[in-house]
Amino acid sequence: MSQRIAVIAGDGIGNEVMPEGVRALDAAAKRFNLDLDFHTFDFGSCDYYLEHGQMLPDDWFEQLKDFDALFYGAVGWPATVPDHISLWGSLLQFRRQFDQYINLRPCKLMPGIKSPLAGRAPGDIDFYVVRENTEGEYSSVGGKMFEGTEREVVMQETVMTRTGVDRVLKYAFDLAQTRPRKKLTSATKSNGISITMPYWDERVAKMAKSYPEIAVDKFHIDILTANFVLHPDWFDVVVGSNLFGDILSDLGPACTGTIGIAPSANINPEGNFPSLFEPVHGSAPDIAGKGIANPIGQIWSGAMMLEHLGYKAAGDAMVTAIEEVLSAGDSQALTPDVGGQGTTESLGKAIAERIAG
Ligand code: NAI
Ligand code: MG
Repeated sequence: MSQRIAVIAGDGIGNEVMPEGVRALDAAAKRFNLDLDFHTFDFGSCDYYLEHGQMLPDDWFEQLKDFDALFYGAVGWPATVPDHISLWGSLLQFRRQFDQYINLRPCKLMPGIKSPLAGRAPGDIDFYVVRENTEGEYSSVGGKMFEGTEREVVMQETVMTRTGVDRVLKYAFDLAQTRPRKKLTSATKSNGISITMPYWDERVAKMAKSYPEIAVDKFHIDILTANFVLHPDWFDVVVGSNLFGDILSDLGPACTGTIGIAPSANINPEGNFPSLFEPVHGSAPDIAGKGIANPIGQIWSGAMMLEHLGYKAAGDAMVTAIEEVLSAGDSQALTPDVGGQGTTESLGKAIAERIAG
């Protein structure tokens, strides 16, 4: 069956790492006999904005909704377009309109990468952060009153719906079920935030009853962040509300080294809409155009995309290829951020060759 994939490179190094992401996917498609049908779009970039006065065409939803997946590079070019315009006008539209309510980030220490945490080796850090991506603390319920006076007041309400909480928990439990350790950690703060967070805990406890094989624990967000640094080996699948997940999904990958290699997925698990796969990093204006951006975040995102589309063996082979190239440590292939003298293309090609087998 052919998989239709929308390719949106975006801005800056998005344009440099995307060809390597596609190269790696092509190699996986060849080896595993997959039919990947790529369609490239120029919108969702600041260049498009400068020409059209908006980040996306009016009919973007129609154009993209029937794709099997979206493969995004990075968006943002603050020198010409303010970041809130480029981000809200593109990526955040996709996440919301396509109800991508799961934000998934693997946190895995790869061979050859130095963790900022002393004494940690590959195998010590290997977990997922599952973030609720549509509600919670990031709500539009609230307002300002008496602006500019002594009585000035601002309020923004946390919104948790049973549907919204249960569906992210179910996704996290299902994910834990597929992993050898079968462990789930919930991020909470039910001591201080005394209405929504006890509710979150209650739903976790209820969901846990349907997953008797899974060991469940929970930590308040403050000590949980400390434990990410002190005991990253404790975690397998960590689930959190929008705000807690946001914090954990930056901290987790940071514990595993360079931002150039971290991937992420924005998932609509039911498949009512396409899911979106993108590296964690942005457009990196400081190194854009130099050909030295690390393409691994983009390639690894491609691996997550294949797994999501049902091709787990192909996705695994891509991750293994990344691990092999990093452990081989050929400085002519590796990019400068991981200690080499190579280029985006040399690293992308080395990985694609390994994927080809
Ligand atoms: P950034 O992730 O683009 O860069 C941060 C630092 O990491 C820079 O020093 C950069 O050179 C380095 N870096 C990033 N990716 C790398 C790679 N693949 N290889 C080697 N080094 C890499 O974040 P920054 O500078 O805060 O934002 C730049 C632009 O990107 C802004 O417009 C921002 O809004 C946008 N952005 C977009 C994101 C997205 O598309 N999801 C995520 C984060 C930022
Ligand atoms: Mg963040």
